[in-house]
Amino acid sequence: MRTSSGTTINRLSFSFLSRKEPACGFRTLHAALRGIALLGFIAPRLLQAQPDKASIRFDQQTQVFRIDAADMSYVLGINEKKQVQTLYWGERLSNADSFAAAHPTPGPSSLDLSINATGQEFVAWGGGLNVEPDLKVTFPDGNRDLVLQYVSHAIEGNQLIIQLKDISQEIYVDLQYQADATTGILRRSARLQNRTSSPLTVEQIASGTWNLPRGTDYRLRYLAGRWAGEWNLHEQTIQPGKTILESRRGSTGAQNNPWFAIDRNNSNDQDTGDVWFGALGWSGSWQISVEQDQIQQVRVTGGPNSFDFGYRLAPGQHLQTPYFYAGYSHDGIGGASRLLHRFELFSILPHAPNPKLRPVLYNSWEATGFKVDEAEQEALAEKAASIGVERFVVDDGWFGQRADDKAGLGDWYVNPVKFPRGLKPLIDKVHSLGMDFGLWVEPEMVNPNSDLYRRHPDWILNFTGRPRTEARNQLVLNLARADVRDYVFRFLDKLLSENNIAFLKWDYNRNWSEPGWPAVTPEDQKKVYITYVHNLYSILEELRAKHPTVEIESCSGGGSRVDLGIMRYTDEVWPSDNTDAFDRLLMQDGFTYAYSPGVMMAWVTDSPTWVNQRTLSLEYRFLSSMQGSLGIGANLNNWKPEDFATAKKMVAQYKQVRETVQRGSLYRLISPQNGSEQSVTETVSEDQDRAITFAFLHSSRMLYPFPRIYLRGLKPDAVYRIAALDGKISAETPLVASGAFWMQHGVDVDLRGDFQAAAFTLETVAH
Ligand code: GLA
Repeated sequence: MRTSSGTTINRLSFSFLSRKEPACGFRTLHAALRGIALLGFIAPRLLQAQPDKASIRFDQQTQVFRIDAADMSYVLGINEKKQVQTLYWGERLSNADSFAAAHPTPGPSSLDLSINATGQEFVAWGGGLNVEPDLKVTFPDGNRDLVLQYVSHAIEGNQLIIQLKDISQEIYVDLQYQADATTGILRRSARLQNRTSSPLTVEQIASGTWNLPRGTDYRLRYLAGRWAGEWNLHEQTIQPGKTILESRRGSTGAQNNPWFAIDRNNSNDQDTGDVWFGALGWSGSWQISVEQDQIQQVRVTGGPNSFDFGYRLAPGQHLQTPYFYAGYSHDGIGGASRLLHRFELFSILPHAPNPKLRPVLYNSWEATGFKVDEAEQEALAEKAASIGVERFVVDDGWFGQRADDKAGLGDWYVNPVKFPRGLKPLIDKVHSLGMDFGLWVEPEMVNPNSDLYRRHPDWILNFTGRPRTEARNQLVLNLARADVRDYVFRFLDKLLSENNIAFLKWDYNRNWSEPGWPAVTPEDQKKVYITYVHNLYSILEELRAKHPTVEIESCSGGGSRVDLGIMRYTDEVWPSDNTDAFDRLLMQDGFTYAYSPGVMMAWVTDSPTWVNQRTLSLEYRFLSSMQGSLGIGANLNNWKPEDFATAKKMVAQYKQVRETVQRGSLYRLISPQNGSEQSVTETVSEDQDRAITFAFLHSSRMLYPFPRIYLRGLKPDAVYRIAALDGKISAETPLVASGAFWMQHGVDVDLRGDFQAAAFTLETVAH
């Protein structure tokens, strides 16, 4: 390892900071990382060193860093202005390739300074910056100029920290990089330290900027939506100016999801072409700016939202940003999402790299609403068990005085009328039927009509003397307050300690309004945007540590809190309250651009659906849900014997294919986007020995056959046996054929009519 002064030193005795600042410095990179973990956005659990497989090198002569991981290379250099400049991000290069020293890009005129033309990794507002800054602060004397320069760096295994410092003030920023050896995904975060003797206000802070190779033919993909209409994929050509993807809602939101993908505008195949993609791990208000600057360079900057932001940083304090993850794929947008899925399963989820397969669950929310009681839930549990359900979940309505959404949130005692003997008899019954038990909670909320609110009206987000806007008759508890955080942790801990609960569905059904925190000084009130989320994460982390077998689903009125931050603490997510199996095809397609089917809950519900009044066969509904983590939310009391028989068969089939569906490589063979009549997905197991294909037809027209399905991702020379899950494969299809045959010749399915579906598996057989 080398320091900026070029001395080769021993890894363990390495002092992270340059010799000028020894007193404040961390003694090793690990100590630095531990320090970050204790105080910042990041939980200590995640800072354990990863296997040291990715390589990070520093060329002392050229002052160039090179990160190589999986199929990706990332190169940055320190230029003569001591700016840290991106030099390359893309397909992995030969080890022999070398890079010349970085030089600032000259601005084209006096109207465009070099600072705006030079693609920096992290740039503060100051020195004439006009592009999106990574950092903007105000000092007590009114100075707002900040110019960061390279000071030192440390490399250990797959981690790199580059320290920057302002040209005159004792303001330091550590740029942290971690490379994932399996996917080439880089994790970035910045840590700002105030070592001056006065407080300062941080008005904007990002985790970093991703600079794309120079190009004018880029296309941005992003996700947008709303309640019951989440996960719409959008595409637009990147043009001069800025696109801001964001949430100002206090939480992740569905209006945009913190994910982006950028490719060349001319590449239309799912699985070929260059794609740069990324996702922000933050469950509070956030922003990602995609900007094409005045000399046609594209940069992507992301972090907490700067709107209404103001974080007072006292002397000696630091602020750590969320993780911003990004990667590169040369296998198109399909390859990009496969890398993300793999990364989520093996690096993000609580039990990564070995997350458990999702059990088949039953939840009666759509069937019974708030009307849950012991007898009815037991009757449903018996029916659910009979079709092979593995987890029985009681949704909203079991607690407090909760008859509808007007009362009860905040009072987390078991409703004595609905469950006079407590939850235990029901839980025992569920266990006796061979299932585990799950429960719905919405811990961050309170109804004004609740004992909790009557006791603690000051516990909610509010501005003194201003209205308290209700949504769904509820207000948001201010989790940033230590007493609220403790209350929430304690009631959940008690619930989990006193009951044999395997699973929590953690809901969050409104956004913030009047986000005040009157209990702290005016200068500290805007910290609510950060501290709230820290406390949410810390509750989840502490609960998981104390109740290690409990699994958690992140739900937010559907899919409004799905991001790589919450996913570090939750085993699965709820994509949408819209469970119409046809609508779900489009939503699931959008969802899987960013997130793995292995976390995507998908329920089979009643038909016609409440959403569209559309009638769909039970088989169609099952096949749609079987593309993710299967659940059942239908009213089993209304099912006929043949429905139970179909469901039992399909649950058993799902169990056969779920490892492939949840862990495998997803190929979108025919996209349901843009009003397509068809939708086809294929998932190939990690060892490429198995594949499952789902095909859906909206409506056939004028005798046209369903398009032939050309499989992908198989071993060309292996021999696979095909098996239909429901007999709709064309009669001419051979029983066994090579991977090459299935990929080149393809498979015909006999789908005709409206809302038809089929599925088939391929499995290798001995030659
Ligand atoms: C939200 C969830 C639903 C259900 C209800 C209960 O809308 O997304 O699945 O749990 O709350 O009130």
